[in-house]
Amino acid sequence: MSEKIGFIGLGNLGLPVATNLIDAGYTLQVYNRTASKAEPLVAKGAQQVTQPADAVTTGGIVVTLLWDGAALENIVTSSGFLEQLGPNGIHISMGTVLPETARKLAAIHEQHGSTYVEAPIFGRPEAAATKKLWIPYTGSQQAKERVQPLLKAMGGQGIFDFGEEVGAATIVKLVGNFLIVSAGYSMREALSMAEKNGVDPQAIVDMLTQTLFPAPIYQSYGRMIAEKSEPFGESEIPLKDVDLLKKTAQQAESPTPISNFLHDLLSTDLN
Ligand SMILES: NC(=O)c1ccc[n+]([C@@H]2O[C@H](COP(=O)([O-])OP(=O)(O)OC[C@H]3O[C@@H](n4cnc5c(N)ncnc54)[C@H](OP(=O)(O)O)[C@@H]3O)[C@@H](O)[C@H]2O)c1
Repeated sequence: MSEKIGFIGLGNLGLPVATNLIDAGYTLQVYNRTASKAEPLVAKGAQQVTQPADAVTTGGIVVTLLWDGAALENIVTSSGFLEQLGPNGIHISMGTVLPETARKLAAIHEQHGSTYVEAPIFGRPEAAATKKLWIPYTGSQQAKERVQPLLKAMGGQGIFDFGEEVGAATIVKLVGNFLIVSAGYSMREALSMAEKNGVDPQAIVDMLTQTLFPAPIYQSYGRMIAEKSEPFGESEIPLKDVDLLKKTAQQAESPTPISNFLHDLLSTDLN
């Protein structure tokens, strides 16, 4: 693979995703705010740079996998990033942000002749390591065709095209995470009630996930809850993403009774 790919954001998810690219034969130029997190990739041959713009090749592809919209906007507007990417350059943004942030950045890219592709990720770091990610993506047709092999190499077991209107793939991601969090909290409440009434939660999970709820989320979270581990642990991601959905819904004047409630539950659980 001759094309040099820029990769910015080597956190819990970024590191295994970038590792997949190196293992697939891509040449990587990597940047992370905390430089030490790049060490495993440097050991595999990645070139580490000290400024985001230095990870970017003119007319090339740069991937970002950052915590939130503020971090993403900081990187895109950092000195030289857009100028270096230039015409025909593509930015694949994979972190979970607001659809309005994605649209704003897509417009900024357009002004500079480059293209923004949003490709948020379904799957935890363990799923990235085993290439079991699900990835919805949105962007111009030409850019999507160019990035498709890369998304597969990053660990996408399935890639879903949501058209050319940036914001759509982000909405898919927010909907998915909201449904996952809703399922987790519903199962926790229901299985606790069952156990306190003397019915084995594991047996309930076994029956329901083979019959009415044979879905990966019910299967995996049901098993965790029955085994007394918390499906979301200390992670701040569910709260961040429920709040992104809530804000997006409110801007569109769409009701948010359940996300309001989940916000309160998640805030209490994190404190
Ligand atoms: N982890 C998951 O299970 C999972 C699953 C699906 C989607 N996601 C989404 O993927 C994204 C990344 O998640 P993660 O779990 O990898 O998070 P993480 O481990 O906290 O990593 C976040 C990354 O963003 C960088 N960052 C944060 N603020 C920054 C700033 N102001 N300037 C520059 N860089 C900044 C961090 O740099 P430092 O290393 O210097 O802190 C790090 O590289 C999030 O949007 C998350 O919602 C995560």
